[in-house]
Amino acid sequence: MEFSIKSGSPEKQRSACVVVGVFEPRKPTLPAELLDKAAKGYISDIIRRGDMEGKAGSTLLLHNVPGTLCDRILLVGLGKEKEFREKEYCDAIRTAVKTLNETGAFDGTLFLTETGPRRRSVAWRVRQAAMVAQEAVYRFDQYKSKKAEIRRPLRKLTFAVERRNELQAAETALNQGVAISEGIALARNLGNQPGNVCTPSYLAEQALEMARELGMECQVLEREAMEQLGMHSLLAVARGSREAPKFIVLQHKGGKAGEKPLVLVGKGITFDTGGISLKPAAEMDEMKYDMCGAAAVLGTLQAAGRMGLPLNLVALIPTCENMPGGNATRPGDIVTSMSGQTIEILNTDAEGRLILCDALTYAERFDPEAVIDVATLTGACVVALGHVATGLFANEDSLARELLQAGEEAHDRAWQMPLWDDYQDLLKSPFADMANIGGRWGGAITAACFLSRFTKKYEWAHLDIAGTAWKSGTDKGATGRPVSLLTHFLLKRCERPGAQ
Ligand code: BES
Ligand code: MN
Ligand code: ZN
Repeated sequence: MEFSIKSGSPEKQRSACVVVGVFEPRKPTLPAELLDKAAKGYISDIIRRGDMEGKAGSTLLLHNVPGTLCDRILLVGLGKEKEFREKEYCDAIRTAVKTLNETGAFDGTLFLTETGPRRRSVAWRVRQAAMVAQEAVYRFDQYKSKKAEIRRPLRKLTFAVERRNELQAAETALNQGVAISEGIALARNLGNQPGNVCTPSYLAEQALEMARELGMECQVLEREAMEQLGMHSLLAVARGSREAPKFIVLQHKGGKAGEKPLVLVGKGITFDTGGISLKPAAEMDEMKYDMCGAAAVLGTLQAAGRMGLPLNLVALIPTCENMPGGNATRPGDIVTSMSGQTIEILNTDAEGRLILCDALTYAERFDPEAVIDVATLTGACVVALGHVATGLFANEDSLARELLQAGEEAHDRAWQMPLWDDYQDLLKSPFADMANIGGRWGGAITAACFLSRFTKKYEWAHLDIAGTAWKSGTDKGATGRPVSLLTHFLLKRCERPGAQ
């Protein structure tokens, strides 16, 4: 879809459809009032007759309204004005775009960006609107022989801003919104690909392609190189599979030479059967999503690259498949991680932490400003937070606060969980330095505690996205979270005093 920005009054738009909001009860927004004035009360008449109460989610399409230059006007109900906040704004944009997509209009001009939540800047409103619009029309139908054709799909969307002096900020925000939503779409596409297509080699190929497109550096380490580095924990997970493991290193060097990089680490299990500790059959297909951490990191790098962010970024993606097999790791096996610490693998289904720990050790060589890992790590995190918030853990409170705030800003929220030493005892092993599981309770926390033993040399945060990376049920699919949170975090870092 194409986007643009405009300032001007709604009655003068030569558009296939002008979209304006109505608050509940029957309270037109300013742009709706302007249209109404031009149409000599036509719209207020309709509202008075009870055809548009302003209830959130409701719409009314009007044709050939007198006194206006557009073909159609779409009234969108916004709910009560006092309750019109970020979520309500995004919902209204989504409703408008979905409705436009199903009418005959090829293009639309949205005045909802003028109405947006009061406390948010024009830049925020436009950025968010572009992202919600792209999300609303996203489809993954590449394997459908018959695609659900939309007869006249929406091609172009224009966002209105009130004043000319807002145009420039809105343009910048629009470009950001487009780059971020393309990053989200990439993460969703990668997540939705089935396990027989999206293999470790496939992810590596995607990273190499991105590097070519955006002038990044990309290196893919093969099994031999990982052996040399001593990544025996990662390799213990890969053992049962015929698919070759890969370790992807992708670098965006947008900052000053010598400036410490931010390192993003993404869990890339392209399918998680559980290994010898085999998972039950029900819903096992969803374990194709176990590489959504990797997908989010790649999506974030693509967004950062396309925005040309003045930051040094490193993406590390340990990727392999977790399969049972004659050569697979057994429960009770002991391995030495790259850090030198030994691990007793009591459950081969707790594999995410085993590949991440070696990547976290590898991260040390970049002398990072901070390291953030992203992983569909534990079912326990879903039990704790459901599908709304991402679990956040950090060894540095200021980093945690920054990420929480970025999540709020992006409406891609996280919730902080404790990393107290009291939990560390649960990982005791009688035979090795630690076990890879901590028992039944507090599973998301003990998983994070396990990782924390490999992140002592730098500021680190861990995002457990097991509940937020995809949706189950009838509208099953990857969400692209937390690309939005991460890119907002990076944008904020660019504004920091001392940054370029
Ligand atoms: N990929 C799973 C986590 C997961 C499970 C994400 C369900 C989303 C939904 C992870 O590798 C795993 O299997 N974790 C185990 C850990 C346990 C064996 C300590 C879990 O959560 O059950
Ligand atoms: Mn597992
Ligand atoms: Zn897993």
